[in-house]
Amino acid sequence: MTAANPSPIDLYVVAGNPVGHSRSPEIHAAFAKQTGQSLHYDRLLCPLDGFEASLRAFVAGGGRGCNITVPFKFEAFRLAARHTPRALLAGAVNTMRFDEGAWLGDNTDGAGLVADIERNANRPLRDRRVLLIGAGGASAGVLGSLIVGRPAEVRVVNRSADKAIALIDTHRDWAAQHGVRLSAAGLDEVGDAHDVVINGTSASLSGAGVPLPPRDAPVLARGGIAVDMMYGPAAAAFLDWARAQAGDGGEMRDGLGMLVEQAAEAFFLWRGVRPDSARVLANLRAGRE
Ligand code: ATR
Repeated sequence: MTAANPSPIDLYVVAGNPVGHSRSPEIHAAFAKQTGQSLHYDRLLCPLDGFEASLRAFVAGGGRGCNITVPFKFEAFRLAARHTPRALLAGAVNTMRFDEGAWLGDNTDGAGLVADIERNANRPLRDRRVLLIGAGGASAGVLGSLIVGRPAEVRVVNRSADKAIALIDTHRDWAAQHGVRLSAAGLDEVGDAHDVVINGTSASLSGAGVPLPPRDAPVLARGGIAVDMMYGPAAAAFLDWARAQAGDGGEMRDGLGMLVEQAAEAFFLWRGVRPDSARVLANLRAGRE
């Protein structure tokens, strides 16, 4: 602890606007309790034009690290003095650690999504065909990590196809290094059924529900896995639609698992300790935390 830090305990926050709905405080409190780490985790509501000033005040008061949520993930990227490779790929930061007077920017969203698919749902991505719907911030945050799972291909489709193309353009070298086929198209050019279908759009927030136009051929293969990056009721329409295609062996996941797993990655970055995230997720789903 530096002399400028008057707090006896390490402070962490989720910084955003709004942040009142965030479940990150309860998740990190559960991790801290489980691992015996002494820390305090809170919400930090930042004025829309005052993110940098809020972070400065936070550090002066003993802040050690933060999660970043809407709408500051890109501003956080700009403010970070150093970045992890996955944050550079994403072009956005969801986790920061204050190191020797400057912010390190990381992005744990993709690792969280992949951990939920591969570990929690026990569905390795290797050689699978992945469809990523959406090309906004949520999809940009996860594409690099999906590629690390070495699926056979990732197809990115978006309402405006040019944004999907721009997103894959920044990931072409990364995909080639990992032997992954990458393609981009509009929403009506989905192609054959995929083993993994991920909804990274905000369609449900506007009440639009399923982001893809109706079509006769299935989008998700029988027995496949679908993930909506939103959690709770916002994910219901998409997952109902996907369940009807996947049938009995299908696996439907809302974004709560991703949320807990990205938090676990952040906790590891800050504390060097890996919490038992699966247990925290099970408790959250059972309403025990
Ligand atoms: P986020 O940070 O949540 O990703 P964003 O960057 O605004 O937010 O991106 C929202 C994504 O949801 C985009 O891919 C958007 O498609 P466009 O790029 O064409 O705007 C997608 N989206 C939002 N509403 C949608 C809808 N009703 N149907 C299909 N896609 C939608």
